[in-house]
Amino acid sequence: MAPGSRTSETLTAEDARRQLVEQLRSQGWITRPEVAAAFTAVPRHLFAPAGTSIETAYANDVVVTRRGADGKATSSISAPWLQAYMVETAGLRPGARVLEIGSGGCNAALIAEVVGPAGAVVSVDIDVQVVTHAQRALARAGYPQVKVVHADGVHGHPADGLWDAVLVTVEASDLPPAWTDQLSPAGRLVAPLRMRGNTRCLTLQPAGDHLVATASVQCGFVAMQGHGRNPARQVPLRGDDAVLTLDDDTTTANAEALRAALDGPRVEVPSPVTLDMSMGTYLESLHLWLASQPRPYGVLRVDRDRTAGLLDPQDRFFCPTLLTNDSLAYLTMRRHDTTTWQFGGHGFGPQATRLTSDLMELIAAWDQQYRAGAGPDITVHPAGTRLPDTERLRLLVPRRHTLTAITWPETNR
Ligand SMILES: C[S@@+](CC[C@H](N)C(=O)[O-])C[C@H]1O[C@@H](n2cnc3c(N)ncnc32)[C@H](O)[C@@H]1O
Repeated sequence: MAPGSRTSETLTAEDARRQLVEQLRSQGWITRPEVAAAFTAVPRHLFAPAGTSIETAYANDVVVTRRGADGKATSSISAPWLQAYMVETAGLRPGARVLEIGSGGCNAALIAEVVGPAGAVVSVDIDVQVVTHAQRALARAGYPQVKVVHADGVHGHPADGLWDAVLVTVEASDLPPAWTDQLSPAGRLVAPLRMRGNTRCLTLQPAGDHLVATASVQCGFVAMQGHGRNPARQVPLRGDDAVLTLDDDTTTANAEALRAALDGPRVEVPSPVTLDMSMGTYLESLHLWLASQPRPYGVLRVDRDRTAGLLDPQDRFFCPTLLTNDSLAYLTMRRHDTTTWQFGGHGFGPQATRLTSDLMELIAAWDQQYRAGAGPDITVHPAGTRLPDTERLRLLVPRRHTLTAITWPETNR
């Protein structure tokens, strides 16, 4: 038995691992036997802070391991479903050489299990305390072969040749050239990329001078530090209780005017569009669709308890919000009947009526065209690339090193 595995009379670490694997399998996050075997083998609790219960260590949720002076998480053990997703989508096989950006040890151990003794795993972290912790926990858990390096991950790890996969486990607003330069031609880069405030874990494969996303899932990660640090602009609307994130250079907002708008009346408009909550990833698709519109856009985050009645957005962390300089309209969703929810919009400010009406039109268009699951094509190009014109709706996300294009398919409906 791994050290420290029996912490409760009722649940051993082995039991907890078995339950977690069953859960991840039934939810579809684990499909491959090698990945199930890795999750069954890795003693996740040994990577958690001292005193973490077995229940917490093996819950299908993130475990925060380190916080900055402001109390925000700077390091964590990623949620098991996301670790499983990344390992699966990276297509890791025995013998693969894998570079992980952002360490902690647990995910590196899972990767080491999958790639086996013929493979190689290097994990890079910018925080020396994370590196030390990861090295100790990996040795204790039985993975001394994993190399943990203290460095800024934007440079990758050029010393050890090309990688079959680069897994980035920290939120990036850009993809530095090192990650693609150090990838083998058939390799995969799996990275959580922030695009207009929406973070998607993209599975990217090289295609000539650019990368093509072959899979994508909504996710959240701690923010990148070091040279790649690029926080989005935060506009507090009610102190920390309601904050608007603006993540592109074209959206400007008059913070004073937006704050004043919230003192005025709220325009409430219901949409005829409803959603069956069993319908998987549709909200994810609606969020990206709204973000892709060629108009000022932000993402609203609220403290539900402290802003209830004033701001009741569909998503308390990432709510799509249309903007003008002095007005805003965000997405809402309320219970329609026992299984369905109804969309709508709340608007504030002089342009509230127009913005909420625009929002309803966009929801209707999405409902007509994309709720069946037709997601956008996402491609990542070198910065400065001139893409051919297209009739299709396309959001371009220009960053220092890359230009990401989110292009929606034409539909015949
Ligand atoms: C979510 S944690 C990584 C989770 C981990 N891979 C696991 O085992 O589940 C993100 C890590 O990225 C690190 N980080 C942030 N910026 C970085 C950078 N520029 N280079 C390398 N690591 C960075 C943080 O210190 C933190 O430990």
